[in-house]
Amino acid sequence: MSSRIIPVQPFDYVVFGATGDLTKRKLIPALYQRFKDGQFDDNCHIIGTSRSKLSNEDFQKVARDAITSFVEKEYQDQAIIDRFVQIFSYVSLDVSNPDASDDLSHALREDPNIVRAFYLAVAPDLFEPIAEYLAAKNLYRRDARVVIEKPLGHDLASSMEINDGVAKIFKEDQIYRIDHYLGKETVQNLLALRFGNTLFEPVWNSAHIDHVQLTVAETVGAGTRGYYDESGALRDMIQNHMLQLLCMVAMEPPASDDANALRDEKLKVLRALKPIVNGDVAKNTVRGQYKGVRSETTSVAGYQDELPDDKKGSRTETFVALKAEVENWRWSGVPFYFRTGKRMADRVSEICIQFKPIPHSMFDHAEGAPKANKLIIRLQPDEGVSLMMMIKDPGPGGMRLREVPLNLSFAQTFNERMPEAYERLLLDVIRGSQTLFMRRDELEAAWKWVDPIREAWDRSSEAPQSYVAGTWGPSSAIALIERDGRTWYEDDN
Ligand code: BG6
Repeated sequence: MSSRIIPVQPFDYVVFGATGDLTKRKLIPALYQRFKDGQFDDNCHIIGTSRSKLSNEDFQKVARDAITSFVEKEYQDQAIIDRFVQIFSYVSLDVSNPDASDDLSHALREDPNIVRAFYLAVAPDLFEPIAEYLAAKNLYRRDARVVIEKPLGHDLASSMEINDGVAKIFKEDQIYRIDHYLGKETVQNLLALRFGNTLFEPVWNSAHIDHVQLTVAETVGAGTRGYYDESGALRDMIQNHMLQLLCMVAMEPPASDDANALRDEKLKVLRALKPIVNGDVAKNTVRGQYKGVRSETTSVAGYQDELPDDKKGSRTETFVALKAEVENWRWSGVPFYFRTGKRMADRVSEICIQFKPIPHSMFDHAEGAPKANKLIIRLQPDEGVSLMMMIKDPGPGGMRLREVPLNLSFAQTFNERMPEAYERLLLDVIRGSQTLFMRRDELEAAWKWVDPIREAWDRSSEAPQSYVAGTWGPSSAIALIERDGRTWYEDDN
């Protein structure tokens, strides 16, 4: 990839929550990969802070261990790791008691050409105290950037409170709200696919598209993750990642890749979502919770089994399926079906654009009607795009049609490592590009749509429907789409 590397300006990246899981699993490995590829050098500093008392050397060891644990072996280069960890330093800091702790100012450089970024890898109730600490200690600069990440609230009101807290110090053009799905290669490729080709845009509307399916299925469980039980699949996946996917599929072509041009269009989609309220919640949404399986060959714990004793009986959903509608000229009458869950049959994230059938078939009816085209955009695994088309089955003897995929596998085409979402996003912060970050009004529009669903579930006396771990969710999720004469897409090729 090195031929396309454009180095970024030197930076001081301060990571609050330096010893946390996100830092170790995602941030350090992502920064290592960019360093290794030469996108920045030793003139860039990564300053970790948290309340723990660590030395620079301790933190360098944290970085080294994170690389050993979370970077694939083939990319671990000892000489580069040795150089990389040298750019790490550490300041022990308690923002609630700043006078009693070390001073971050010694670690930061004054040079205005050095980009200053603060990554708040901490709980949201610390965002405001950290912002105020930075201002009080004169570490805030008008050109500094702050990065925050979900959970950005549990509903509209709490998300506004979090945003207000950060906005006391930072302006909107300094705030980078991460939704890591926007950093995924295939998600960005949606922009290339739709707006870099003439082929799709003319048919990208209700005249040609029957419906759209968005699936994010995971095989992992969630009961041992403390945060998850407070959240559930609607808040954890739909409110953010999946609504962002919907925006990328459904938005009008932005005039440029300017951050606001793109985000204006996404916002319009979110605002055009038909509210799901009252009786429509039961009709258009399904929530589920996985139960365990025990057989001679497998034993998988159910969500309830994984929960600590004080949480047993939880009604948190680990699966959601819903039918959404975007009420505008382009999408009128085109349903968007969402499906996401833990402990599903397979790990797969994909978007299926189902086109309408041909208006008239000239082919022998005995052979069955030709199948309507589908465009499958695969986010993971095996990122790529497939266009399902009808071709003639080869051979003499009749004219039989067969559905085959026209396949574009990114791994095969580019034959190189696909960068992780955080690699792109962390350096976009340094570049000052907010295009792949959520603006406040988007976030709030998403909550506004999700909140009534959540509230109706909370009011309902019904518990989530159970589904067996390792399946595609409760049967009512299948009924949700089949009621409309459609089926969930499953890759059987
Ligand atoms: C996170 C959710 O935001 O995204 C997790 O909190 C989920 O529950 C994860 O597992 C999925 O991300 P990815 O990149 O593995 O699809």
